Amino acid sequence: MSLLTIILAAGKGTRMKSENPKVLFEAAGRPMVDYAVSAAREAGANEINVVVGSGAELVKAHLGNSVTYSVQKEQRGTGDAVMAAEEIIKDKKCRVLILCGDMPLVSGATLRNFVEEAEHHPVSFITVDVEKPFGYGRVVRGTNGNVLRIVEQKDANENEKRIKEINTGIYLCDGDTLLDRLSRIDTKNAQGEFYLTDIVSEGAYAYKAEDEDEFMGVNTRAHLAAASKMIWRRRAERFMEEGVSILDPDTFYAGADVEIKKDAVIYPNVYIEGETIIHSGTTIYPGSRIKDSVIEENCEIKDNTLIQDSFVGKGSSVGPMAQLRPGTKLLGENKIGNFVETKKISFGEGSKASHLTYLGDADIGKDVNVGCGTITCNYDGINKHVTTIGDGVFVGSDVQFVAPVNIGKGALIGAGSTITKDVPEDSLAITRAKQLIKEGWVSSWKKSKEKK
Ligand code: UD1
Ligand code: CA
Repeated sequence: MSLLTIILAAGKGTRMKSENPKVLFEAAGRPMVDYAVSAAREAGANEINVVVGSGAELVKAHLGNSVTYSVQKEQRGTGDAVMAAEEIIKDKKCRVLILCGDMPLVSGATLRNFVEEAEHHPVSFITVDVEKPFGYGRVVRGTNGNVLRIVEQKDANENEKRIKEINTGIYLCDGDTLLDRLSRIDTKNAQGEFYLTDIVSEGAYAYKAEDEDEFMGVNTRAHLAAASKMIWRRRAERFMEEGVSILDPDTFYAGADVEIKKDAVIYPNVYIEGETIIHSGTTIYPGSRIKDSVIEENCEIKDNTLIQDSFVGKGSSVGPMAQLRPGTKLLGENKIGNFVETKKISFGEGSKASHLTYLGDADIGKDVNVGCGTITCNYDGINKHVTTIGDGVFVGSDVQFVAPVNIGKGALIGAGSTITKDVPEDSLAITRAKQLIKEGWVSSWKKSKEKK
């Protein structure tokens, strides 16, 4: 039978105190609803229907047409939210897996096990024992162990508040049975809402899970921080198992789509985001952030470096305190030193810019030495222009290249020059004013100023 997954994502998220819909808040760098969507896919969902309401347009714009939508006009509770998907459930004769958009830690594997084990039950849900049940619905069982009902925090009496077994908010139902039971729920409870939890009161199979962390529901920003920490920590553990050294797994922040190859070494407080690949033998020093970039083998990314949309070829050293902006391509064995900024450049093999330099919109050959304080003046206030520098060029310190300008292979640019015209290969270009020496000038000048 086909499996329809319904993801509840219409809630206001009142406890987040935000203008933005809760399910789009990022847990460890990824919107929470994305975790639910990918876990549903891993569990074998044939269709994913997302119930939207608060901030519906934003949620739809984010997920696009990878899923279908139902709209809950007014947020009248989790039961009402599922009712919003009635039309979808009705004519399908399917099994329905219900997930919440605010549970980023649930794994696809757990859902798959649940779906298999609960296969023959008309209504089932996942429960787990937790250390601190505050805020969750508690599972009330009869003397024979059967589930009687779920009681929400605000409706619970003192005894019920002590129950450690909670409702995770994940259900698997027969489509028709689900709709039938939903037709009988009401709003007679402390919050005046339609509680989805009430469907278990007519009998349900409780699938008891083991790992309480997986079922953490994010309702506040403190929960979001705690969930993010666990997700980052898991990613760190996975990388360590695969042979990556992570000096402090508690301050390692890698996104969901990051790849790190074995024998890479990651110092504390490093952010690796987007579609980034860190290859073998590369070391990333503290305080760096790398997004949507490839760092090849045996590189050193030194302290406090920011790299975005860039390629760092093997054996290169970048930083400390460097910024590689989008479109930077270092072809290998390069050095980019402290306070160097690059943007949209190709930097040939073996080339170096060791200190205090801006290189933007430039095509730079191999074995070029860029002296301290060099600037490519790429912007004339209206357009951007390109600087081209051939192989083996030596650029002295404090040089400005006023683009567009081409420097031929093997040329030498004298320190302090402002280069506005093309330089042929193998030539010296120097725009410095001639140095003047006046011997004894200082003391005679001072004497002339002395008060008489
Ligand atoms: C819910 C459960 C609780 C369970 C907990 C697990 C109910 C009544 N309570 O409580 O038993 O222990 O989840 O985390 O079901 N939503 C809508 N429309 C609404 C209301 C909510 O789409 O009108 C969505 C929210 O966007 C969210 C999910 O449903 O993704 C859960 O809602 P939330 O308000 O967070 O429920 P909890 O109080 O956490
Ligand atoms: Ca919740």
